[in-house]
Amino acid sequence: MASITLNNIVKTYDDGFSAVNNVSMDIADGEFVILVGPSGCGKSTLLRMIVGLEDITSGELLIDGERMNEAAPKDRNLAMVFQNYALYPHLTVYENIAFPLRLAKDGNGGKAGGSVDEKVQHAARMLELTEHLDRKPANLSGGQRQRVAMGRAIVRDADAFLFDEPLSNLDAKLRGQMRSEIAQLQRRLGVTSVYVTHDQTEAMTLGDRVAVLKKGVLQQVASPRELYEQPVNLFVAGFIGSPSMNFLPATLKEGAGGSVLSSPIGDIPVPAERAAKAQGKGLVLIGLRPEFFEDAALVDEAKMSKGSVFTAELSHLEWLGHEQYGYIEFEPDEKTGRLLSDLAADMDAEELRPQVVTTLSAESRVRPGQPVELWVDTSRIHIFDPESGENLTRDAEAGAELTRRAGQERERELSLARDRDAQNA
Ligand SMILES: Nc1ncnc2c1ncn2[C@@H]1O[C@H](COP(=O)(O)OP(=O)(O)O)[C@@H](O)[C@H]1O
Ligand SMILES: [Mg+2]
Repeated sequence: MASITLNNIVKTYDDGFSAVNNVSMDIADGEFVILVGPSGCGKSTLLRMIVGLEDITSGELLIDGERMNEAAPKDRNLAMVFQNYALYPHLTVYENIAFPLRLAKDGNGGKAGGSVDEKVQHAARMLELTEHLDRKPANLSGGQRQRVAMGRAIVRDADAFLFDEPLSNLDAKLRGQMRSEIAQLQRRLGVTSVYVTHDQTEAMTLGDRVAVLKKGVLQQVASPRELYEQPVNLFVAGFIGSPSMNFLPATLKEGAGGSVLSSPIGDIPVPAERAAKAQGKGLVLIGLRPEFFEDAALVDEAKMSKGSVFTAELSHLEWLGHEQYGYIEFEPDEKTGRLLSDLAADMDAEELRPQVVTTLSAESRVRPGQPVELWVDTSRIHIFDPESGENLTRDAEAGAELTRRAGQERERELSLARDRDAQNA
């Protein structure tokens, strides 16, 4: 297993298109890192440069501290894990797993010792495939096939696994199952993994850390929690989370009772430390996640003091059983309208409707088409600079702490996995 380091990696294609722009990051040994971003942002290009299928225009790629820019793919000892269709249908599970070893000249593959049979049996034990070794791929479940594909990478004793949108062709239900299968396997094996996806849910559920790319430029690399709670800018804030964060234009006003952010859905009183961030900025964009809202009638006293109540009219309501989405429509000014549609284009999303999505509890009896009292958590309100997109309310220290804690949990899991592996071997 190995660490992977990217130093100022650039990819300019022959036609002059700049697909990856100065990307730097460290991927630790055993870490599971996700590259996420809209279609065309350079994810596959970056992955292919790591494996050696694409030349690196400038910058440096290090594997375990050693420069690998010029190394042939086979000398990088990395394994691309493909979808189940890369399995040979006429071969048994055993032969599918053994395949890369049979290809190796010495008939022994990989760099670790041991016979082909020992390696296949060992991989099968780790992947819980022992009882399926004589079966053909067609007779296996989707999850089992995925494990066979990973078995091939394991017998090669690859230093890292690289995945390029392996689940994108599957239907939603199977995708969910495979996602948890891959997450568990990666944790059990503790193999350094880089996984590319355009799906933020996949990124958030799989990764120890997630690297968000926009147009070839790295925006933020952090644990899922840090990305969600402390996004660096509008793009990350809007891309991560579903339903998306709501953005509204607002201006700061000082009233008798303190500061308020005046927005199209009403005046929202904000704590002084938040207000300070919008001071002297004129028009700002505020960011409110759907779950920051609640039916005011259902908010207890302790919670009430963290936010404020305003009156709004819901245009419609969607009841989902465990919760409901209430929509508030608003008319953005011209500038905000433009900002929101640029943001939607950047995210490769449907045009963002000028509306606020609120997540209300299932018990709420509010009705659309009439004034309702909603509570909003103002202690977590994000304020963005509309020009640069920077999150003015980001607490870098709190964010770093979230990622540090995730890293520690990860370390613990890894050492447990290694102990288990040592016992199995
Ligand atoms: N061989 C190529 N020549 C020129 N441009 C390319 C080539 N391959 C990819 N691109 C462009 O580089 C950008 C990034 O592509 P890619 O890495 O495949 O994106 P992603 O995997 O994030 O969808 C895209 O705009 C794509 O059109
Ligand atoms: Mg791609």
